[in-house]
Amino acid sequence: MNIAILKERRADEQRVAAAPETVGKLIGLGFSVAVEKGAGETAAFPDSAYKIAGATIAASASAAVKSADIVLKVQGPDKAELKNFKKGAIVMAHLGALSDGKGIAAIAQAGVTGLAMELMPRITRAQGMDILSSQSNLAGYKSVLDAASEFCRAFPMMMTAAGTVAPARAFIMGVGVAGLQAIATAKRLGAVVTATDVRPATKEQVESLGGKFLEVDPDMERDAQTEGGYAKEMPPEYFEKQKAVVAEHIKKQDIVITTALIPGRQAPTLVTKEMVESMQPGAVIVDLAVEAGGNVVGAKLGEVVTTANGVKIVGHTNVPGRLAQDASTLFGRNLLNFLTPFVDKESKTLVIDWEDELVIGTLVTKDGKVVNSRVPGTTAPKKALAKKEQPKKSAKKEA
Ligand code: NAI
Repeated sequence: MNIAILKERRADEQRVAAAPETVGKLIGLGFSVAVEKGAGETAAFPDSAYKIAGATIAASASAAVKSADIVLKVQGPDKAELKNFKKGAIVMAHLGALSDGKGIAAIAQAGVTGLAMELMPRITRAQGMDILSSQSNLAGYKSVLDAASEFCRAFPMMMTAAGTVAPARAFIMGVGVAGLQAIATAKRLGAVVTATDVRPATKEQVESLGGKFLEVDPDMERDAQTEGGYAKEMPPEYFEKQKAVVAEHIKKQDIVITTALIPGRQAPTLVTKEMVESMQPGAVIVDLAVEAGGNVVGAKLGEVVTTANGVKIVGHTNVPGRLAQDASTLFGRNLLNFLTPFVDKESKTLVIDWEDELVIGTLVTKDGKVVNSRVPGTTAPKKALAKKEQPKKSAKKEA
């Protein structure tokens, strides 16, 4: 079985779908691996490291995929890439399946089997395969460093001969995987940390990391979590309450990190124009949800904006890609962890169990058709997932 690893095409994409370490493991499982020339360069993995791991270096993307049974990518393939794929090949990547219906249709038309790794069901067995989780963890960490580098003050309290410097106050909105890591990182840097979320389970997680939880409305939050562990879209009355509580709190904050997402929907607005205007000059807001529409009014995709009252709003795209080497290593391990159970150790061939709930959850195209009902614009029937395992409730380990 042949695997190809391609160089990413998107301008802000520094990651690669597998580190040399992962390539070595794939070869150990019996795969042959071709890596497109320069694929790992932006993540500081030279071609020579892939060669040492046992891969061959292909001169172009078309040469790499020509005989590939499986193609590993970070972002989904575009039409130009797809035309070189073998019919029946499998592509594993973040395909953006909940928003990019056209991209998924193009994969189906090319006769390629698409596994959208971002749709991985959130069950215990799949934790090591969850790309959203591995990448969000790094994004949460980097968001605090990005804030610190834009901030014109220090984070920790400092007692010096010239006087005492007060600690920075950091407020984290959305306490999923990224938010928990942001809390842990801001604490390590010495900030005084508060946080809020709609899911009640997060209160204890915030407190266990040494942060203080800002409660909005425990009654309305009781039912705010889906079975899969994600947040539900909240009713307008909740947002009104949240606005009032946050408005009072945010004006005293130096650093705000927002991470709130609803899968397949526009990110909720959590920080209004008035809230930004109420903050002190020098305060920094990092909007980690900017690519999903943004949590902060005034955030601009790919820009650091300074408002009239001197507040900086950071809207970097692809934040995990700003830590390209670690992000690529973890992404590649996620894909490897998914493939490994399907490799028949004796024949060294890939035998995918199409009835496995992780395959059902992530499979979006097969035999020329879109097969997942969650893809926008499709008429694919809903496939029930067996409820063998319960979704994991806590992400404490990630921090
Ligand atoms: P996410 O990236 O979808 O959202 C980030 C956070 O924003 C969530 O905590 C969400 O509750 C919060 N949020 C959404 N709307 C909000 C609003 N209006 N106001 C305030 N906060 C809002 O979430 P993420 O990071 O993917 O984690 C969700 C859950 O999934 C966590 O409980 C985590 O432990 C769990 N998980 C389970 C895994 C597994 O079992 N395999 C793997 C990874 C995460």
